Amino acid sequence: MTQFNIINIDETDSTNNEVKKLAAKGFPHGTVVRAERQTAGKGRSGKSWSSVDGGLFFSVLLRPPAEMAVNPGMITLSAGIAAAETARSFGVKAGVKWPNDVLAGGRKPYRKFCGILAETSAEDGVSGPVVLGIGVNVNIKKFPTDIAGIATSMYLETGGAFDSVLIMESILQAFTPLYYKALDGDSALIIARYKQLCLNIGEVVTLTNTVTGERITGLVLDVDGGGGLVMRLEYGSVYTAWSGEVTFNEKL
Ligand code: BTN
Repeated sequence: MTQFNIINIDETDSTNNEVKKLAAKGFPHGTVVRAERQTAGKGRSGKSWSSVDGGLFFSVLLRPPAEMAVNPGMITLSAGIAAAETARSFGVKAGVKWPNDVLAGGRKPYRKFCGILAETSAEDGVSGPVVLGIGVNVNIKKFPTDIAGIATSMYLETGGAFDSVLIMESILQAFTPLYYKALDGDSALIIARYKQLCLNIGEVVTLTNTVTGERITGLVLDVDGGGGLVMRLEYGSVYTAWSGEVTFNEKL
C-alpha cells in the first residue's frame, strides 16, 4: 500500500506545479503537497481554480509502473469516487458529474465543491508520472460572484466546519485501493462504484467539446466499462463520449 509523504506549505501558485517540480527532482510515488493558499490554481481545460480561503488544495505524485500500462482515465475516475465517498462520510450528499467533478447532489441545481486535475507526461514514449491535483471547497462560506451560482462547499452543505487535513487523509485512504485496482487493469469495481455516484445517468445533458466548442445533447444511458459516457442522441443514435464538459439540461 502507498505510504504518503505529505509536505505542507503556506503558499504556491499551484500544488500541481509544485509536485511536477518534485517529480522532476526524482521524488517518489506518494509524495503529496498541500498548500494553505494557491495564487494561480489551475482547473481543467485551461480554466483557473478559485482558491478562496477555507479551501483544501493538494496534489499527489503517482508513478504507475511502466509495464502496467494503466488507463489514466481510471485514475481520475477513482479520485472522483474517493472524494465523493469521503464527502458523503462527512455528511455531504455528494455525487460525481462525468468525468470527475464532485457535486452536492442533494437538490438541483447541483453545485460543485470539488474538482480534480490530473496531469501526465510522456517520458521517452512511455507514460511518466501522474500529478493528481484535488481541490475541495471545505470551509468556504462565500464565493466570488462569478462562481457563486455554481459553487458550494462542505460547510455550506452541512452547516459544519471540517478539518481539511482529515478530509485530505480520508480521500487519500479511499483512493489507494482504487488506484491499485486501476493498476491491475481491474476497472469493473471502479466503474460499478462510479455508476452508483454518477449524477448524469438518466439525465439529459449537453456535452461540449472543449477544443472545438461543438455541442451535442442527449440522454445519458450509462457509463461503459472504459469510463465512456454513453448517450442516446435526439434521433436515437447512441454516442459514447471520452472527453468533454457536461452540463445538465432539462429537455432533449
Ligand atoms: C477542475 O474541476 O477544473 C479541476 C480543479 C482542480 C483544482 C486543484 S486544487 C489543487 C491542485 N492544484 C491546482 O492548481 N489544481 C488542482
